[in-house]
Amino acid sequence: MTLLAVEGLRRSFGSLVAVDSVSFEVERGEVVGMIGPNGAGKTTTFNCVSGVLPSDAGTVTFEGADVTEAPPYDLARRGLVRTFQQTRELETLTVTDNMLLPTPDHPGERAWHAVGRTAASEQREQEARERAMDLLGTFDLRGMVEEYAASLSGGQRKLLELARALMLDPSLLLLDEPFAGVNPTLTAEIVEHIEALNADGLTLLIIEHELETLTDLVDRLIVLADGRVLATGTPEAIMENEEVIDAYLGG
Ligand SMILES: Nc1ncnc2c1ncn2[C@@H]1O[C@H](COP(=O)(O)OP(=O)(O)OP(=O)(O)O)[C@@H](O)[C@H]1O
Ligand SMILES: [Mg+2]
Repeated sequence: MTLLAVEGLRRSFGSLVAVDSVSFEVERGEVVGMIGPNGAGKTTTFNCVSGVLPSDAGTVTFEGADVTEAPPYDLARRGLVRTFQQTRELETLTVTDNMLLPTPDHPGERAWHAVGRTAASEQREQEARERAMDLLGTFDLRGMVEEYAASLSGGQRKLLELARALMLDPSLLLLDEPFAGVNPTLTAEIVEHIEALNADGLTLLIIEHELETLTDLVDRLIVLADGRVLATGTPEAIMENEEVIDAYLGG
């Protein structure tokens, strides 16, 4: 079944057409990779799909519903969650508080409803904390929970970002360069986490330049170049595709 359908997506910045008639689908249960040269429009495609940027034209359909105009929080509530190429941890918060940020009863709201706090909201916060600790355990960040995010390594930040996205319990996770700047050991760990999550039912769309890592992980690749879909297919087919070799792999 089609989980995500993108049809004729377009986004320009002034006279630059960053995303031009981009169409693709992601089936439930798939791991799909999105590759292409720098500036091909990969992140802009994610931005439009995830509601971070409005698109100029085209439609985005998620679980059969038209979500073209939906803001990020609405998409997250529906199960579509993304991470960012530049990690967005709040460095002045601890690892734990970064994890609790996306949840409705995060500590930052404590003062706000200190008076009207109900047993139900306390229970939700307790559950969120337990989920955060579970995820941080899974991602080997348990020893860092009281550290400020600023003291994490680049790789640990990528792990935290992944763990944080999972706080929202997504059915589709869009990852923008999850392996960039991550050492080989940590990369292998992230790969294992992604495989386990996928085996557990999570669908993933992953932008990445680390092709060796990506091709082992994905069922299918979508190649963007100059804002357009150049090719889609199995990793094997894409690696042999002349147009893709000329536009991206050749160098
Ligand atoms: N907010 C913006 N304002 C102006 N131009 C932008 C903006 N965001 C992206 N662009 C331009 O749009 C084009 C596509 O950028 P995008 O970030 O989507 O590429 P990308 O495929 O993610 O590249 P990379 O692999 O380097 O991350 C580039 O030419 C970029 O400079
Ligand atoms: Mg990008």
